[in-house]
Amino acid sequence: MEVNPARLINIPTITDVRGNLSVIDGLDCIPFTIKRVYFIHNVPGGEERGGHAHKTMDQFLVATSGSFDVRINQPNGLSYFTLNRADQGLLIPSGCWRDLYNFSSGAVCTSLVSTHYDPGDYIRSVDELNAFWIGGNN
Ligand code: TYD
Repeated sequence: MEVNPARLINIPTITDVRGNLSVIDGLDCIPFTIKRVYFIHNVPGGEERGGHAHKTMDQFLVATSGSFDVRINQPNGLSYFTLNRADQGLLIPSGCWRDLYNFSSGAVCTSLVSTHYDPGDYIRSVDELNAFWIGGNN
């Protein structure tokens, strides 16, 4: 199973004396059609989110306020990202495991994703992840 690597993407931003306006205008910015948007907020200090991968869902995460860290487990190893600005996001393709942690006070994680909610799309164990990488859509 080919898994594309997670990577940072800059969000086009219009800046003037009144502040910044960042625009995610569909496929001009991210390589999938957005089907769903959700927000993670009010995360208590020390709590972690994520802890799974997805079989088909692609995701784009933006720290629209505050900051948090993301650890990605993908076939070529672990990658670490700090998200702390509203004009940049992290593309997490299907097949990449994500852990979100180190949320700052007031952090908001905005999540744009390529599918509607489907509990069956989750990969929740490392064994299942390894099988997915080797064998595809198990
Ligand atoms: P989960 O995807 O595990 O959150 P995260 O990975 O961001 O920590 O989802 C947490 C709970 O919310 C779980 O019970 C499923 C539910 N949920 C929905 O009902 N709809 C959704 O669109 C999402 C993302 C989660």
